[in-house]
Amino acid sequence: MSGRIPQSFIDDLVNRTDIVDIVNARVTLRKTGREFSACCPFHNEKTPSFTVSREKQFYHCFGCGAHGTAISFLMEYNHMTFVDAIEELASNLGLEVPHENYHDPKKASNDDLYALLKQASTDYQEQLRNHSNSAQAIEYLKNRGISGKTAKEFSIGYAPPDWDHLRQRLGQGDHKQKQLTLSGMLIENEDGKRYDRFRNRIMFPIRDRRGRTIGFGGRALGDGKPKYLNSPETPLFHKGKELYGLFEAQQALRKITRLLVVEGYMDVTSLAEHGIRYAVATLGTATTHEHLSLLFRTTDKIIFCFDGDRAGREAAWKALQVALPTIHEGKQINFMFLPDGEDPDSLVQKEGREQFESRINQAQPLSEFIFDRLSQDVDTSTIDGRARLTELTRNILSQLPGGVFKHMLTERLAKIIDIDSKRLTAFITPYEHTKHTKYNRKSKKQLTPVSFMIALLLQQPKLSVLAHDFETSPDMEVPGLHLLMELLELLRKNPNLQTGALLEHWRDQEASRHLFKLAKWQFPLAKEHMESEFQGALKQLKTKLNEQMTEQLLKKERETGLNDTEKVQLRHLLTRGTSVDNDHPT
Ligand code: UTP
Ligand code: MN
Repeated sequence: MSGRIPQSFIDDLVNRTDIVDIVNARVTLRKTGREFSACCPFHNEKTPSFTVSREKQFYHCFGCGAHGTAISFLMEYNHMTFVDAIEELASNLGLEVPHENYHDPKKASNDDLYALLKQASTDYQEQLRNHSNSAQAIEYLKNRGISGKTAKEFSIGYAPPDWDHLRQRLGQGDHKQKQLTLSGMLIENEDGKRYDRFRNRIMFPIRDRRGRTIGFGGRALGDGKPKYLNSPETPLFHKGKELYGLFEAQQALRKITRLLVVEGYMDVTSLAEHGIRYAVATLGTATTHEHLSLLFRTTDKIIFCFDGDRAGREAAWKALQVALPTIHEGKQINFMFLPDGEDPDSLVQKEGREQFESRINQAQPLSEFIFDRLSQDVDTSTIDGRARLTELTRNILSQLPGGVFKHMLTERLAKIIDIDSKRLTAFITPYEHTKHTKYNRKSKKQLTPVSFMIALLLQQPKLSVLAHDFETSPDMEVPGLHLLMELLELLRKNPNLQTGALLEHWRDQEASRHLFKLAKWQFPLAKEHMESEFQGALKQLKTKLNEQMTEQLLKKERETGLNDTEKVQLRHLLTRGTSVDNDHPT
């Protein structure tokens, strides 16, 4: 391959291709209403649940969940690579595929950030050895049972107490300081003064799978608050996506046969100290879909480790919900609960590697955790209780992709409630069909304004003009907002992209699944109402964002005071009420 295919070419290609022709040349389609259908080529079935939409330029199977664009179809059906699929579509249209030499200015600047963080990490390690305060830091690590060897393997360092240590060391010139700020290492105050984010802390570099430092966690030496300070979200660091210790595990082990998921930095390092090299931490956030997919890309067996208390069990149940749709053949998830008041760090120090590992080996299989939990409030000796358990389990089973694991769970349930597993399967299956139709008919009220807007934009990209001047600050906490902004930005640049071509922009990204779901969602709306519905959702979103902004500013006013721009902004928000549209009476 002689370079990268420009995205604009792919956009154009997908826009000009008709997926119906591509599929129909390989699988005979029948027209059914506005869509086309066939028996699914990706799984065995007798009644057609595979549909192709000409309008949206994608396919979707209600049976097995297969979905994608014309490119994906060729890749899946003809086992082509991405580039081969592009070549095939291009030759259908008589086009030559251009290749460009890859140079992305955004990527270049990320390279600079990686380099800076690497320097910061090296410097912190040096400070741990040489700074005038380092004795205190070394003493702290010693007290916590971390040896020099482990500290080195995890590149643990020390950020001195100075306000401008890193700025002096690495911030030569305004450009460098801006980059340090962007990478989260410096903080800029309202007067534009920049100072070190991490001071007088033990520094744990967080590295991606390739070993590049992407952020830090810093622990206070004593009772300082906050106990841990983490890098903020930056172009390199996304908290819900990363696992602390994964790189180090890969370094230490030839083959990773299992991964133990724990909560904290010290848990990972302390387990490593005791020879347990396969622990990773979620950095204090709840387990996300991205975590799961990263874990399962690395190993087939995951053991989640949680506190044994109520909060721990709730967190485990949440993790389970996230994990269910990702369970495939050959993948295994276990749950391990710790005695009250212990964390992996304290426990492994207390009882040593062997005992701790025997706990890991005895961790509860996912299926057992499910039935334990579900049977908790159910008396399985009564018929009522068993019916209730079936009902509860049905919910879980419907979230699972088909396969051995689902079959096994069904068998297990059949045993507990003492009915024939075939009858149980029959009982469970129709439920799933109704679930699909329900999803399709799902009213817009069940989507958040952001998801609703994304769904509308994917299906009617022209609506984006209604939001052409919509802007928001990147640190607003609204789920999906980032994705919505990306989509709007894309449509600002390429207003002619249609659904299939839009979806291609998220190929191989986590968001892709979600976008396909929204793209295939059927609106309970006639086309002529879409515009006003879109505007309604946009207005709702703006209101929500203004409320959040007001709250943030009020909080900041209480805590640290506001600068002049912020004062004006707050006054503006308060006097206008919470809706931005108040000054455009409609
Ligand atoms: P814990 O409070 O359980 O800390 O937080 P820990 O890991 O046992 O830490 P030690 O043993 O007191 O040193 C678990 C994880 O939650 C995140 C960190 O990732 C931490 O490792 N956390 C916790 C923060 O990000 N900030 C905090 O202030 C506290
Ligand atoms: Mn701890």
